[in-house]
Amino acid sequence: MSSSVVIRPLEWLELPQYMNLRKSIEDEAEHLVVSRGERKETIVHVAAKMILTGERTRTLVAVENGQLVGYINTIFAKFKKLHGNAYLTMAVKNSHRGLGIGTQLLEAAENLAKTRDTRRMELEVLGNNTGAIKLYKKMGYTKEGTKKNAVKTESGFDDVIFMAKTLV
Ligand SMILES: CC(C)(COP(=O)(O)OP(=O)(O)OC[C@H]1O[C@@H](n2cnc3c(N)ncnc32)[C@H](O)[C@@H]1OP(=O)(O)O)[C@@H](O)C(=O)NCCC(=O)NCCS
Repeated sequence: MSSSVVIRPLEWLELPQYMNLRKSIEDEAEHLVVSRGERKETIVHVAAKMILTGERTRTLVAVENGQLVGYINTIFAKFKKLHGNAYLTMAVKNSHRGLGIGTQLLEAAENLAKTRDTRRMELEVLGNNTGAIKLYKKMGYTKEGTKKNAVKTESGFDDVIFMAKTLV
């Protein structure tokens, strides 16, 4: 477990650093839907999205010595009939994986969600992302469905797996 890492909300001034971290992870991660260089959002887009979605989106970051080393986005459902559902996306910097930071981020997002009357945490993960699936299973997430061969990869096709956890 990485004891020097603090999990806390992203601060506005950290937006450029957050975008760099996300870009560097997306550029090298083969288990993500987005491909290298594909995300074209500028800081204005990201800031505007955060302002527009307001309380519905919360970004928590893992910080070590002032440097962002991971993040988790929790998106709370917009429509009334879906209230109680929250959708997660997350990543940890390559150099900091396997230290328990992903686990800490998930726990923090769940604690945050509980303060917002959330019943279900939901996420999607590619079938070949065995490390992430292991983490989610360990944290109590179960598989609810599969979009077969929904993703085209360099070596063929991959599934998108839906996982969820009921909060108590
Ligand atoms: C998935 C990810 C967030 C995990 O973060 P992490 O900080 O390494 O996770 P943790 O150190 O808390 O690991 C927790 C558990 O997950 C499992 N796990 C995580 N990465 C693993 C890997 N590469 N191989 C095998 N198991 C792995 C292990 O079971 C581990 O528990 P253990 O240490 O008790 O064995 C990180 O690998 C990552 O950012 N990957 C690239 C982006 C990504 O795939 N995001 C998820 C998209 S759905």
